[in-house]
Amino acid sequence: MNLEEAKAKLEKYGQMQVLKYYDELDDASKEALLAQIEKTDMSILAGCGNKEELSKRGVISPLDCMEIPEIKEHEKEYEAAGLEAIKQGKVAALLLAGGMGTRLGSDNPKGMYNVGKTRDLYIFECLINNLREVTDKAGAFVHIYVMTSEKNNDTTIAFFKEKNFFGYPEDHIHFFMQAMAAATDYNGKIYLEEKGRMATSPNGNGGWFVSLVNAGLLDHVHANGIEWFNVFAVDNVLQRIADPVFVGATITKKCTVGAKVVRKAAPDEKVGVICLEDGKPSIVEYYDLTEDLMNAKNEKGDPAYNFGVILNYLFATEQLERILNGALPLHIVEKKIPCLDENGELFKPESPNGYKYENLVLDMIHQCDSCLPFEVERDREFAPIKNKTGVDSVESAQALLEKNGVVL
Ligand code: UTP
Repeated sequence: MNLEEAKAKLEKYGQMQVLKYYDELDDASKEALLAQIEKTDMSILAGCGNKEELSKRGVISPLDCMEIPEIKEHEKEYEAAGLEAIKQGKVAALLLAGGMGTRLGSDNPKGMYNVGKTRDLYIFECLINNLREVTDKAGAFVHIYVMTSEKNNDTTIAFFKEKNFFGYPEDHIHFFMQAMAAATDYNGKIYLEEKGRMATSPNGNGGWFVSLVNAGLLDHVHANGIEWFNVFAVDNVLQRIADPVFVGATITKKCTVGAKVVRKAAPDEKVGVICLEDGKPSIVEYYDLTEDLMNAKNEKGDPAYNFGVILNYLFATEQLERILNGALPLHIVEKKIPCLDENGELFKPESPNGYKYENLVLDMIHQCDSCLPFEVERDREFAPIKNKTGVDSVESAQALLEKNGVVL
């Protein structure tokens, strides 16, 4: 793209501020900025003017969940089916590690965070240790695909190498990068993070399968006969990965996606709840849950929307391939965005100063034909690290790890 073409594109989207320092740049930086302008999708940014429109929902109704007593009753049968699928190499793990972890505020990838007290214990290590319990039982390793972003890819890979992949076979760990999206101020104007570079952030965890395909890994998936992807967040240190009971239950119930859920602690707890939307599986974010839905009861007299997702899903590969080209809704999220101030100096905000534009994995559920919500015990499987202190923090996760017998 040449300068004239770049100007035409920026003018069309009202983003001419991106060229503020263009004349000061050396030739290589000019070229890099023009290339970035060319590949950036600016059409999505107009969304910040009609956020309400973007969050319109369909008709919500309850979706039955497989609750713990039912799981216990069939545990042996489901576990055997799950272990068999794992032994046959049909199950892969997909670690979402492309996020910026801005709430935790560490410069390193979140997975490098050390949660140990008397010894080193990194988040990535916790996850590998959890998975090892399953692979030891199955007598087979599962492939782990790790999604990073251009902001943390090199550091993440270097860390895994330095730590010898935490004892997991290196040929079973595959890294790929997700795409980026521009980050803007509250008026939808793209910030600069350098004089020759627009501010960008990872485009959300919803694009993971498209990014995996774009990275050329689909051949690897097919060649290895992978039929299921267990997708999970990096920040839940109690995450059960490739849980054979969950895998077996989803296969037995012939669902194309399974979602681990926990019973809500209170009707207004801030978690996305599993439900049907216009008759298809879906997740409604807590801020879209009306009072009526919050207090609705099912025929058993229990709250009708009582199970929250914990970002642990099992997707059938054939379903993923069918929805590959389906557009996901856009989420416009307030975040802290490092950017140049009016004097051209880098400014790292302490509080949110603009929007990031993301697709979310939870919206993929609505594209699937059938979903099994699978209840798990919160204290055994859900210890997310989002914040430095308080709710969902390092401290709360450490307490839960200790409660589950992990020496810190
Ligand atoms: P979060 O929604 O907690 O976002 O991600 P985050 O970026 O890690 O943290 P904050 O909001 O800035 O504090 C949930 C999971 O999705 C992954 C994260 O790495 C985490 O495992 N994720 C998030 C991605 O892989 N890519 C993204 O673009 C965003």
